[in-house]
Amino acid sequence: MTRIIGISGSLRRGSFNTHLLRAAQALLPADAELVIESIADIPLYNFDEETQHGIPTAVAALKDKIAHADGLLISTPEYNNSMPGVLKNAIDWLSRPGDDMPRIFDDLPVAIIGATPGTFGTLLAQNAWLPVLRTLGMRHWSGGRLVVPGAAHIFDDNGVLTDDAARNRLRKFVLGFVAFARQQSTVTGRT
Ligand code: FNR
Repeated sequence: MTRIIGISGSLRRGSFNTHLLRAAQALLPADAELVIESIADIPLYNFDEETQHGIPTAVAALKDKIAHADGLLISTPEYNNSMPGVLKNAIDWLSRPGDDMPRIFDDLPVAIIGATPGTFGTLLAQNAWLPVLRTLGMRHWSGGRLVVPGAAHIFDDNGVLTDDAARNRLRKFVLGFVAFARQQSTVTGRT
């Protein structure tokens, strides 16, 4: 079983990026799973807090889940033409302490998707993540690109993706990423 962890960079109920991850769950092959994890309980990063109290429970738990995963699928909102602070904050906590970073991120297959009601589909946010992924030593899958503009019109009131063209693009993307993650796990022996 190929296990992918999905993280949405939005905390809001009704998040298009969370909807997008849920839609991806339904499109995976039978021998793969996408487990969506929340970043809602991760506090703001504070070095004093880390020094005095260590890694918060929610961060430690998510670190362990990622460490045992075959891949990470990030669905990022775009804020002010870049990544949202809550998601960057979560990734920053997950990278602590620095000497534990390789256990979590080294050679971890990762892909970025994103949805926005706007026109450009989170392209700038996705690009903004690239240096972060490189710094963490992850293996970014660049075999596809999934930008989802006009998100207000492609999900129904229950958050179900109703647009056939968007669903087909998402299916192609996730199948490509799962194949990459599977192949990488045999190469790196990460999990
Ligand atoms: C936005 N939004 C936005 N959209 C976009 O396409 N490009 C952008 O630069 C921005 N900038 C931006 C800044 C801030 C502070 C907010 C709150 C919003 C709109 C954003 O895409 C929209 O709120 C999405 O719905 C956020 O994703 P979720 O919460 O639906 O997953």
